[in-house]
Amino acid sequence: MFSVGVISWRNLCIPRLSQKRFAHDIVITQRTGKPIVKYGAGGRSSVSGHIATVFGCTGFLGRYIVSKLARQGTQVIVPYRDEDSKRHLKVCGDLGQVVPLEFDLRNEKNIEEAVRHSDIVYNLIGRDYETRNFSLEKVHVEGAARIARISRELGVDRFVHVSALNVDKNSPSKFYRSKALGEEAVKKEFPDATIVRPSTIFGQEDRFLTRYAATKYGYIVNGGRTKVRPVHVFDVALALERMQKDESTIGETYELYGPREYHFEQVMDLIDELIDRRRIRFNIPKPIALAFTKAFNLPFLLTVSPEEIEKLYVNDKITPGAKTFEDLGIRPLSLEMNSLGIVRRFRSARAYDQPLGYGRPIEKSKVGKKREIHVEY
Ligand SMILES: NC(=O)c1ccc[n+]([C@@H]2O[C@H](COP(=O)([O-])OP(=O)(O)OC[C@H]3O[C@@H](n4cnc5c(N)ncnc54)[C@H](OP(=O)(O)O)[C@@H]3O)[C@@H](O)[C@H]2O)c1
Repeated sequence: MFSVGVISWRNLCIPRLSQKRFAHDIVITQRTGKPIVKYGAGGRSSVSGHIATVFGCTGFLGRYIVSKLARQGTQVIVPYRDEDSKRHLKVCGDLGQVVPLEFDLRNEKNIEEAVRHSDIVYNLIGRDYETRNFSLEKVHVEGAARIARISRELGVDRFVHVSALNVDKNSPSKFYRSKALGEEAVKKEFPDATIVRPSTIFGQEDRFLTRYAATKYGYIVNGGRTKVRPVHVFDVALALERMQKDESTIGETYELYGPREYHFEQVMDLIDELIDRRRIRFNIPKPIALAFTKAFNLPFLLTVSPEEIEKLYVNDKITPGAKTFEDLGIRPLSLEMNSLGIVRRFRSARAYDQPLGYGRPIEKSKVGKKREIHVEY
């Protein structure tokens, strides 16, 4: 009798409850009027109704946004170039929800296939250096414009383009010049595109804290005086995720930067403090740094490129009145409080588990009058 009761309860009540639809399960998109139909209770195994394409998903920021989208039931198309580069993304979502597609940025058919069914396209494609096949213009301007144009032609509802803070057509840095032209080209092809300009991003496996913590000697340029406002990768990914549902972000430009400004040398001091090492620090004059990086800028050496040296001379500058985290309801994480987990692996075995500040005292920063960084733990 009991089992009959259980079966009838399951058969009759649970399926009906879970299949019931409410008015708020259907959203009509503002731009194209396409219906987005939600199904399920929410979360990884439900269906949010959205299909997103994330170009540049195989990079540092890409994996965080793919994970954020897939865990709430969005189907994510992940265009990739190298077979192994997309492997880790498959497990971000439920079975069949993360769909890898091989693509070439120059091949329009590939791009069409990747965006055809999507209602939102994120373009995270970017490169800090030029390669034999791709100049910065080909990646940041031509490639971005091509994806934006095809997305518009195929009726994609939203386009989110990731650029960079400090973009300027007259910047001494080729990277920032090409990113500025890229924004313009994207806006021309897709006028309602949302532009996102993050400052230097830090997080697990970044190319900022990790790179400087890994070096035996600390090298700085510009006397460590360049001003930076590092932003956590969690915050940038959260902002990108919020843009999917928040239609007030259509056509807007967001500058995403951390809560505090630092001189570069202060960041180096912080890294030294966190990894409990006092490294000899060299200030390399610009002509020598450029000559060295030009001579050794070989892909297999994984050195710093000349474009990256130029970037290190540009102070982070906020555009007055630009929208930021506050407009998305996000309070950004600070560098001091969130860096230890990222660089701890560069500590010696002796110091690995020690609390902060147990090691030798760190000398005062040469840039500021007094050390301003205070690490709490
Ligand atoms: N990380 C930062 O500190 C920072 C700061 C400001 C702005 N941004 C911008 O934010 C975006 C994401 O940054 P990220 O740190 O995640 O970059 P990343 O780790 O270097 O990843 C870049 C992505 O772009 C793809 N890509 C590069 N060149 C390509 C090409 N020619 N054809 C097709 N795909 C190409 C890469 O694919 P493969 O894996 O196949 O190479 C990779 O998926 C970029 O646009 C970057 O410029 C980053």
